[in-house]
Amino acid sequence: MDERHPETLPSLVMTTEAEACRVAARHLAERLSLPCLDWAETADRLVLNLTPTRLELLARERGRGQPVFVEFSAAIAQARRQEGLKQTLARAIGLKGGVRPDVLDATPGLGRDAFVLAALGCRVEMVERSPVIHALLEDGLQRARREGLPEAARLTLTLGDARAHLADRCATHAPPEVIYLDPMHPERTKAALVKKEMRQVRSVVGDDPDAAILLQTARAQAAHRVVVKRPRLSPPLGEMTAHAVVTGRTVRYDLYFATSAISD
Ligand SMILES: C[S@@+](CC[C@H](N)C(=O)[O-])C[C@H]1O[C@@H](n2cnc3c(N)ncnc32)[C@H](O)[C@@H]1O
Repeated sequence: MDERHPETLPSLVMTTEAEACRVAARHLAERLSLPCLDWAETADRLVLNLTPTRLELLARERGRGQPVFVEFSAAIAQARRQEGLKQTLARAIGLKGGVRPDVLDATPGLGRDAFVLAALGCRVEMVERSPVIHALLEDGLQRARREGLPEAARLTLTLGDARAHLADRCATHAPPEVIYLDPMHPERTKAALVKKEMRQVRSVVGDDPDAAILLQTARAQAAHRVVVKRPRLSPPLGEMTAHAVVTGRTVRYDLYFATSAISD
């Protein structure tokens, strides 16, 4: 049983509708230790579906369901560049003028925040611990590379727990300038529920009850700052009071500066 979401995590299965994808789907199922079922056997299931164009997560209980996949596109990059350095995420990370810090995204999920930062010119190292979410990210990144998106060259992806990764990384690399955290938020009332997409991700990865420990590790490692995304009115993660806050319409970014950055 998964400690991150006991009892409620539905069992995910791999499938494909396309004859041409069968072998690849079987290999991926093996790699992810998922059962591989025929499409016809997966009605009412949460599935990882390999189509000829992408890998997607699909909750089939409501008919065909709304696919969830990683979308790195030129149109999204262009839109976020137009929003520029005033957008709250850019301000929280510390982008200004020609300053583009290197970011380690320790909770990349569907990669949307990482992609925004890459579109604005940052190099972003994504470290995702869920093998299924990592597979979705890998698929999105491969498509972006095939399309020749410049953002793809600024994004790297590693499978693993960010806490262990940070501990190993410090032996061989300079500390990351900025570490970004957006752990799963606690489930709230129905009206305030996070977007449907994120609910589907939650049904695969569960909650992130160890997020406060990740924040402690990140604070010990970041050269400049750690940025934590929170729902606007939530208490700070692990009740660790932030040094500064950037508040948006629905979310808030809590900033923790490295000691060396405070005394600079
Ligand atoms: C809320 S989602 C992040 C959404 C993301 N910011 C986006 O823009 O799509 C949180 C993700 O962080 C991952 N995660 C949580 N703790 C982690 C850790 N210690 N190491 C690596 N990944 C982690 C979860 O598996 C999940 O995929």
